[in-house]
This record gives sequence, structure tokens and C-alpha cells, in this order.
Amino acid sequence: MQATLNISGSTKVFGCISDPITHVRAPSVFNPLFEKHGIDAVMVPLHVPASGLSDFIKGLRMMPNFGGMSITLPHKVPIMEFCDEIGHQGKLVGAVNYAAFDKNRRLIADNCDGSGFVSGLLAAGYQVAQQKVLMVGAGGAARAIAFSLADSGVSHLSIANRTESTAKELANSVIDSYPNIEIGCAPPDPRGFDIVINTTSLGLNESDNLPFDPGLLVSSQIVAEIIMNPEETRILKAAKKVGCDIHYGRPMFDHQVAIQAKLFGYSIVI
Ligand SMILES: NC(=O)c1ccc[n+]([C@@H]2O[C@H](COP(=O)([O-])OP(=O)(O)OC[C@H]3O[C@@H](n4cnc5c(N)ncnc54)[C@H](OP(=O)(O)O)[C@@H]3O)[C@@H](O)[C@H]2O)c1
Repeated sequence: MQATLNISGSTKVFGCISDPITHVRAPSVFNPLFEKHGIDAVMVPLHVPASGLSDFIKGLRMMPNFGGMSITLPHKVPIMEFCDEIGHQGKLVGAVNYAAFDKNRRLIADNCDGSGFVSGLLAAGYQVAQQKVLMVGAGGAARAIAFSLADSGVSHLSIANRTESTAKELANSVIDSYPNIEIGCAPPDPRGFDIVINTTSLGLNESDNLPFDPGLLVSSQIVAEIIMNPEETRILKAAKKVGCDIHYGRPMFDHQVAIQAKLFGYSIVI
């Protein structure tokens, strides 16, 4: 049982919207941060069925003490039509995962999956611009990461995915927005790349296949993961053995929290 938060009439309210709701983690991340930083705010889980989304947003507009929200499935795409402004990443990805009301109760939304990942890499001291990147996986998180990598000026992006058509589709949509970057599909072969990223869910379980062959890595490469649990997946362990720099999945999440908090009006240093 968590300690009771010090909620008063002046506390700003934030939400995390989802359906189903019980799995959401944002409130248990944001509330301790609000407390730690002395911010008079609270985040609550809001169980919103898809059919009620329009009425829900209308209601929130009428509540001046409601600041904004983290957005999870199934609302990441449908909520866009009820927003007044979509940020750069949200427009590119075609989905948003956070939103906040401005002082005129205009709802501003964006996507920070990819920018969180890139911020995490940069904060760890790695260069992203002009790097040759192999991204293994082409799911929801990968889509956002691909656009952010292109936006950050990688020189080359190869996408490898079990379902090749999804990789092709993603590569083509990134090329449409970044025609000057070399982008294409490839097998999951890390040879010749500066940064190799696992964005698949392979690694969540100890018995999962490896997303690519670590025997093909060399020590000068950076191997990044987006899975947070376990912290050190089998592919990261194998890359470490080769002598590669490894980058965990957690920074992507932490940097997303900081990016969301900024739109909510707070500066939270990770
Ligand atoms: N650190 C963070 O902040 C953060 C944020 C979001 C997600 N994540 C983690 O990222 C992972 C992916 O999330 P997501 O939302 O992108 O999931 P998703 O949309 O379901 O995509 C899953 C990806 O993994 C691939 N995949 C799944 N099983 C596979 C298998 N047996 N063999 C080969 N490829 C397989 C899928 O390939 P196909 O297209 O062929 O199915 C797809 O590319 C999850 O583990 C999630 O926990 C972390």
C-alpha cells in the first residue's frame, strides 16, 4: 500500500487513459516524481472505453484543474481527432502517447516513444547523427524510434523484421518524410553497423530466441535494447561478452517521463 498523497483543492490533476486499465504504470511513476520534486499534482488511472473517448475529452476541457494525460491503447490513434494540435513526432508516427491542455484549454498531443529512446542514447553519451543503424523489429515502438532516428540525422537506417512486409511498410513511410537518408529493409545481420537496436519483444523471456546472431558483432558496436524487464536481456549479455557498449531499455522510459512532464509544465531531471 502506497503512502497517501497530500491532495488538496489546489492539486493539479493528471490522468493515464487506457482500456483495460489495471496494467498501467504511469501513475506509479509520476506520483512519486511529483512528490520528490515538490510538485502539487497527482496522476490517476482513468478507465476510458473507446466508445466514450469523445465525451471524455469534452468533459476534461471543462475542468481547469485537469492538466493532461499519458495515453495508452486503444486511444493512441483515435484521440488525435479530438486534439487541437499534434506535435512533430505524433504527426510522423500517426499516433500520440501524451497530451496536455494549454491555458486556453486547447489539447496538445505528441508521441515521445522515439524521442525518449534517442534522448536516452544521447544522454548516455552516444552519437546518433551520421551513424549507421540496424533496427531489429518493426512494431509500434520501432515505428516511433525509426522516425526519431531519421529526425536525429542517422546516415543510414536498416530495418529487419520477422514479418518483412511490416519492415518494408515502415521503411517506406520513413523514406517519404526523410528522402535524403538511406533507409531500407535488411536481414538481422549486425555487421557493418555502428548501432544495433533490438525493438522486438524477443528477450522478455529467458527462453526467447535471440533477435540476431551476437557472433557477428564486433566490440566497436553499440547494442541497444528497449525491453526493460529483464534489465539485461540475453542479447545484451552476449553483446557485453563481445565487448560492445550496451544500452538498456530503461532510459527510453525515463526520458519519456521527462518529456511528458515538460508538456505538463514541470521540469523533471532524470
Ligand atoms: N523502454 C520503453 O520505454 C518501451 C516502450 C515501448 C515498448 N517497449 C518494449 O518494446 C517491445 C516491443 O513493443 P511494441 O509495442 O513495439 O510491440 P509490438 O508492436 O507488438 O511489436 C513487436 C515486435 O517484435 C517482433 N516479434 C515478436 N515476437 C517475435 C518472434 N517470436 N520472433 C521475431 N520477432 C518477433 C514483431 O515482429 P512481427 O512484426 O513479425 O510480429 C514486432 O516487430 C516490448 O517488449 C515492450 O515491452 C519498451
